[in-house]
Amino acid sequence: MLDPRDLPLSLYFDIPNGILQPAAATIVRTVGDLRGMFFNQAAVNAILASGDRPVYEIQNYPFLTTCSDMAVSVTRIFPGTVGGEYHMSKGHQHERDDQAEVYFCLQGSGYLLLDTMQGDFQAEAWKPGIITHIPAQWAHRVVNTGPDLLVYIGIYQVKAGHKYELVEKQGFQKVAVEQDGQPVLIPHPNRV
Ligand SMILES: [Fe+2]
Repeated sequence: MLDPRDLPLSLYFDIPNGILQPAAATIVRTVGDLRGMFFNQAAVNAILASGDRPVYEIQNYPFLTTCSDMAVSVTRIFPGTVGGEYHMSKGHQHERDDQAEVYFCLQGSGYLLLDTMQGDFQAEAWKPGIITHIPAQWAHRVVNTGPDLLVYIGIYQVKAGHKYELVEKQGFQKVAVEQDGQPVLIPHPNRV
C-alpha cells in the first residue's frame, strides 16, 4: 500500500493574481523587516516614520514524502526603491553547505546577486525565462529593477535551511541603485 505522501502532486500558480494553490505559507517582508539590509538607513527610517510598506511576499509549498523533501517557492517583489536602492529580497545562504537551488524568473526584470561572502561575486541579469543554478554556499538575493512586479520560482530541498548571519553582517558586495532612471550596480557603500 503506497503511502499517500508518496503520490504525485501538482500545484497551480495563478500568475495574474499571484496565488499559489495550495500554499502552505505566505510570508510578507516589509521595509521594516529589511531595515538593516538597505544601505541608506536614513531613507529606511523616513519610510518607517510615515508607515511601513511591503517589499515582497513569498509563498512556499514543501513536497514532503516518506523519503524526500523537495519544495517550491514563489516570490513576488513589488517595484520601488528605498533611498535609491531597488526593492530586493533579504538574501540568504543555506544552513547546509552541500545544498544548491534553482531559480526561474517568471515575470519582470532585475538581477540575481550571488556572493560567496568570501570574495566571489556574480550578478545575473534577469528577465522572464532565465533559469539560474545557485551552487551550494553562494548567498543569493533578487533585486527588482523594473517598473512592474518581479516574480520568480525557487526549487530546493527543505533540509537546505536558511542562514542569514553573514548577509546581515556584511551585506552583498554590490547593490543595485537607480541613477538617472537606470539601474546600476555599485559597490556596497557600507560593506564590512
Ligand atoms: Fe535559497
